[in-house]
Amino acid sequence: MQQSLFVKLRDKYGVRNLANLVARGHTHADLYSCELHGKKLALKIGDDARSRREVTDNLYGYRQLTKIGAKSIIPRNLEMLTLGATKIIVMEFLQHNFKREAEKRNPRICVQLTSSSRSLATLTLGMKKGIQAKAIREIKYNLRSSYGKLADSGVISKSDTKIIGDIREGSLVSDRCCIFMLDFTPDNVFLKGSSMTVIDPWKQTTYMGSFIPSLSMFASQLFDVYKLGNKKANYGYFESAMDYIGAKLRLKERQIEKQMYLGQSLQYALSSHALISSNRTVARRYSRISLDMLSKAI
Ligand SMILES: Nc1ncnc2c1ncn2[C@@H]1O[C@H](COP(=O)(O)OP(=O)(O)O)[C@@H](O)[C@H]1O
Ligand SMILES: [Mg+2]
Repeated sequence: MQQSLFVKLRDKYGVRNLANLVARGHTHADLYSCELHGKKLALKIGDDARSRREVTDNLYGYRQLTKIGAKSIIPRNLEMLTLGATKIIVMEFLQHNFKREAEKRNPRICVQLTSSSRSLATLTLGMKKGIQAKAIREIKYNLRSSYGKLADSGVISKSDTKIIGDIREGSLVSDRCCIFMLDFTPDNVFLKGSSMTVIDPWKQTTYMGSFIPSLSMFASQLFDVYKLGNKKANYGYFESAMDYIGAKLRLKERQIEKQMYLGQSLQYALSSHALISSNRTVARRYSRISLDMLSKAI
């Protein structure tokens, strides 16, 4: 960060002891730890068009999650600071994220995550026709966008993308709903005892829908893409959490399965897209898996 921004933050807001938290993330917003109001906090800084949008979208997500009754999972001490056009999120400083805990082979994290997810789905459970279908359409939109980019770069063919049109959301849903999050990933989730904090929410048209695709995306990113977390020992916890949430949502077994495949398909499409320029071979493999999973969700 430029020295001038550092000085302005100190003079206007009393921010001290800024230290880089991570190298620039893939979304280009800088993350810092700092001292403010006598506490150690974290800052996410949006200082160009893209990172500003990222910061604004995150704040929108936090507001919507609060509205649906999921305030307990958003970081504490949330605040927005501005310096001219620069937008800054202030939030609680969290310890290691789930991915880091998985790298350290912390054995309890999958049990904790799936148990927190069951509670979260129960906490946000509601009955509103059409909301789950809206969430499925949100997934379709993201699949279409990823497949479009994969086809443009020749990783898949244009004709491969047609399968998205075959997803019939009506066949996948019930008239109940609960929290629904995209980008619920091992990088964005922090566990502390029985509580779970989620950062970096995407802008979504709905944050209610079903948590089954969210959990399924999490599991494929953790076990299959990152190859962490001991799939053999722990995948069962995810399966039973998805079954539990499916029962709360009054979904049939086949619908639970389809939502699970849909989540996997989206995760593989996103991971494939992330690898287009650095590892085309794996990008191709992931997009084949994504298409295969999608065929099972139809
Ligand atoms: N409040 C926080 N406390 C501790 N670490 C954080 C905090 N916010 C972000 N981080 C770290 O920075 C990384 C990137 O932050 P994130 O907001 O997810 O940005 P990106 O949009 O680049 O994914 C996170 O994966 C996490 O490791
Ligand atoms: Mg993130």
